[in-house]
Amino acid sequence: MLSEKYHSEINAILTKYPPDQKRSAVMPMLYLAQSEYGYISQAVMAEVAGILGLEPTQVASIVGFYSLYYDHKGGVRRVQICADLPCALHGADKFAEDLCARFGVKLGGTTKGGEFTIEAVMCLAACDKAPMFQIQDATGIHYHENMTVDRAERLLNDLKDGMR
Ligand code: FES
Repeated sequence: MLSEKYHSEINAILTKYPPDQKRSAVMPMLYLAQSEYGYISQAVMAEVAGILGLEPTQVASIVGFYSLYYDHKGGVRRVQICADLPCALHGADKFAEDLCARFGVKLGGTTKGGEFTIEAVMCLAACDKAPMFQIQDATGIHYHENMTVDRAERLLNDLKDGMR
């Protein structure tokens, strides 16, 4: 359980908020949970909800809304392609389809070796630079804009080979 392993970290988070507003701690709590498990399961959402006095559905809606949180296990790196309308009008859907084909996965799927999960997300605030995606991994979040499928494939293969 998160609350047993991270008792002091959770208390440190909660002290940043007024006692009657502890629900405001939901984002750092989810971040802590995701750091531990790599994703946020239904059980963890329920635990976080219990700690903060929220309904599990409220926590689930936050996890579902933000592309920074994952509700299922994925690859070592998340390749998150913006497929929102402005990017879609600049070929994001075809880009995503072709990139997935190069790596033998369906959109939302994880490569065989577990290196990448390639998924579509909503606007990443680079609407004039489509096709674009962000890569989330242990080192943070990295934007890649004005991409072609060839360049994206090279980038991912370099990352896989530890060359970047
Ligand atoms: S619509 Fe793709 S970054 Fe905004």
